[in-house]
Amino acid sequence: MTDIPAIDALYQESRKFPPPPELVSSAATNSTRIYAEGDDHQNFWEERARSLVWRHPWDQVLDWSGAPFAKWFTGATLNVTESCLDRHASATPSKIAYYFEGEEGDSRTITYAGLLEEVSRFANGLAELGVEKGDRIAIYMGMVPEFPVALLACARLGAVHSVVFGGFSPEALADRINDAKAKVVITCDQSRRKGQTVDLKAFADAAIERCDSVEHVVVVARTGADVNRVPGRDVDYRELVSRQRPVRPATECSSEDPLFILYTSGTTGKPKGIVHTSGGYLVGATTTHREVFDLRPDDVYWCTADIGWITGHSYVVYGPLANGATSVIYEGVADYPDKDRFWNIVEKYRVTQLYTAPTSIRTFMKWGDDFPGRNDLSSLRILGTVGEPINPEAWMWYRDVIGKGRCPIVDTWWQTETGHMMISPLPAVTETKPGSASMPLPGISADIVDDEGRSVPFGGGGYLVLDHPWPGMARTIYNDPDRFVDTYWARFSSPAEGRWRYFAGDGAKRDEDGYFWLLGRVDDVMNVSGHRISTLEVESALVDHPSVAEAAVIGRADPITGQAIAAFVTLKAGVKGNQPLIAELRDQVAGKIGKIARPASIVFTEDLPKTRSGKIMRRLLRDISEQRKLGDVTTLANADVVQEIARRAQMQATTEE
Ligand code: WTA
Repeated sequence: MTDIPAIDALYQESRKFPPPPELVSSAATNSTRIYAEGDDHQNFWEERARSLVWRHPWDQVLDWSGAPFAKWFTGATLNVTESCLDRHASATPSKIAYYFEGEEGDSRTITYAGLLEEVSRFANGLAELGVEKGDRIAIYMGMVPEFPVALLACARLGAVHSVVFGGFSPEALADRINDAKAKVVITCDQSRRKGQTVDLKAFADAAIERCDSVEHVVVVARTGADVNRVPGRDVDYRELVSRQRPVRPATECSSEDPLFILYTSGTTGKPKGIVHTSGGYLVGATTTHREVFDLRPDDVYWCTADIGWITGHSYVVYGPLANGATSVIYEGVADYPDKDRFWNIVEKYRVTQLYTAPTSIRTFMKWGDDFPGRNDLSSLRILGTVGEPINPEAWMWYRDVIGKGRCPIVDTWWQTETGHMMISPLPAVTETKPGSASMPLPGISADIVDDEGRSVPFGGGGYLVLDHPWPGMARTIYNDPDRFVDTYWARFSSPAEGRWRYFAGDGAKRDEDGYFWLLGRVDDVMNVSGHRISTLEVESALVDHPSVAEAAVIGRADPITGQAIAAFVTLKAGVKGNQPLIAELRDQVAGKIGKIARPASIVFTEDLPKTRSGKIMRRLLRDISEQRKLGDVTTLANADVVQEIARRAQMQATTEE
């Protein structure tokens, strides 16, 4: 386990915070028995499943006979939108589903009745465009109310949505459209970001040039900009929905019909289309949303994630809606017009649960206590984090400055592949420790194993595995079941003994009390501001440049973003490395993948440290970037190059300052 990056202060951390007494007495889930109930996994999830709307009941809770390809609630049928919309539209029609807050301060409220109507109209509109059950629809949008509407309209028809984060480049969008063979693309004319506009439709057009499968593009007018419109192909959203009937019967789907594909970075260059299905996913997302956030009828819940990521799918759209919750959706960034925007929103809507990322919390910390100090945050009851390890210092700041010491913090560990939260405190039950995601949720089972797959005793560290199937687990990688088995299951399972263990790609440590402390990725995936980016994807983008011979990319520790992308590049003979070329290469990566993948630093070098078999030693580059003493270099074919790279990296760091 030499490659697991250590996180500061873990070993010294001994503070503990019991749940606040008033929460224990009033929370919906407040009994320690819940963990024992969760030991009977199938029973636990079956009982939770009963709170959803099904058309036809299941024959079997879990069919694991085709492991590692799971089937949950087999034989059952449903349409997820009936749990998310219809039942609330009839029981509490005027309850607010979403408060929408635009970046420029414009706002809208959308009731459950209104949301059902809009989704039904759009589903009718998509049907008019020829969308049928099973078709794939790509969604590439800014955070506007029509974004969740688009997902739900697909689900209403049994069509499979594939959301592509609006910050991705045309090239990344095209790859995803092509992999899924999407028939329709839903986008916006423009999106708003930090007082500027982003030309989403122009990006989508550039992508679709390379995609044969796309028959129609639906354009939501967010800014009203005059955008290119391809006759016969492009359709204005408002024109389309306004001519539809406000009613659309939901298409009956099997529990195992796919609900969506969401692409995520893995250890190779090609993004993986993670497939989630209907019944189990909804049970998992809904249960964890309700129990981890201690959801109550009058709550105003705000998850700040973009719907383009899994957190937005599960905890802005499906979980909260199935629970009939009232959520806030905010369009923009945290420092527009000023650095107190989040706290304005909390006060304005009297937010009760805030769910955000450690990178944001560290940024707020850096901005200082004055900004949250300007607003009344007394409505907050529970604070959540997700996306990366949270350091104890940021955890304590969140608790003290935002939560005023009153609000439990739920540090939730999970992944695109897990569909919903796996390891997290229950706010009225679990004693929390700053920096620890605590323990697996009821109904979930996790372990930590060593290189040989042996369970590591309490007090030790190793690889995090999930050793029991759960309802929202990914069912496969789209069109690539072998890769699904290889990536997640091959390493620590023994099929002969019928033992399946899902390998998450994360390192973790478990303390004497059995608490899990997540230590970051152990593979070639970087985590920048909570976003997964593969080193290989960035390397390919760099090598695509005519001046570049070879590139190696690593994630180096960064106090705000968790990791920052550091690139080491060797140039083709005769090319001179200079500042303009650095700028060009950074733009090249932004253009190919998206701005989130733009390297923070690029160092030119004559050669890269390689083993005798030619494998790039990224670990050494990490040591150099984080200015650690270099470890053993004897296995290197070209040991002298390391000193040279270290010298150049140091030089660059000095000029940056
Ligand atoms: C990391 C986001 C530590 C982890 C929901 C995981 C975390 C990857 C936490 C998944 C957490 C997520 N503590 N690390 N609470 N939550 N991670 O697929 O490395 O975008 O494997 O899903 O983020 O990222 P993804």
